[in-house]
Amino acid sequence: MYLEREKIIEKLNPAVCNWQSILVLESTGSTNKEAYDLAMIGGGANTVIMTEYQTAGRGRMNRSWEAGKGNSILFSIILRDKRITSPGVLMLTAAASLRETVAEITGRDDVLIKWPNDVFIGAKKCCGILAQAGVDKKGDSFYVLGIGLNVNNALEEFSNLPQGTSLFVETGHKYNRNEVAAKLFNKLSKKFGENIENILAECRDFSYTIGREVCVDQQNKEIRGKAVGIDDDGFLIVLDSDNVAHKIICGDVL
Ligand code: BTN
Repeated sequence: MYLEREKIIEKLNPAVCNWQSILVLESTGSTNKEAYDLAMIGGGANTVIMTEYQTAGRGRMNRSWEAGKGNSILFSIILRDKRITSPGVLMLTAAASLRETVAEITGRDDVLIKWPNDVFIGAKKCCGILAQAGVDKKGDSFYVLGIGLNVNNALEEFSNLPQGTSLFVETGHKYNRNEVAAKLFNKLSKKFGENIENILAECRDFSYTIGREVCVDQQNKEIRGKAVGIDDDGFLIVLDSDNVAHKIICGDVL
């Protein structure tokens, strides 16, 4: 079944979600690039660009994001919401929404957030989030939130990605992507209205990272230690072997 704008819209809850402006492309380079370019020329808030396939999908840290045709939910949304104060907070809000959506859909109790932006089922990643900030030609600031959720992807798609998985691989069920997308959109819109303390509490309660020994790759340096918490700004706190606490603002947590 294809992604269809009308099928998604009919499942949106108008009390929480007004994301009616949905564009579904058969294929594109990257939905984040499409959304960013549109936002730069004044594209409207809550415009969603979805696609069945990306030829140049982007991940964090300049990595690529690959997904076979017609199996994932791949989209980017333009946000012009003053309640979003940083890309970090946006990513954690998105991660909390995704975690809840995946847990509800699959019924699994091991759906967790790997700080800052991955959603894991067990020890494998089913979803990635890419947040970008920009300022358009009129000087108005915006965010682009890009999400790739592996839904009906077969195990073979992950032959080169041993840490990757999909909802299908984990549960043996195929899911209606229009319904999953609508559920996720409702959840995201609702979470944007929640206060940050609740979001942070959820990220802490369902953290894959807290309590683990980690190595944070910050490109020019590495920090090793135990992840002990997420602070009130959403930063990860890592305690090294000398008991020195490091505040991790960005970086790859291995
Ligand atoms: C990551 O885990 O590194 C983030 C991956 C984000 C992938 C999504 S797929 C839809 C949107 N368009 C892109 O090019 N990237 C994001």
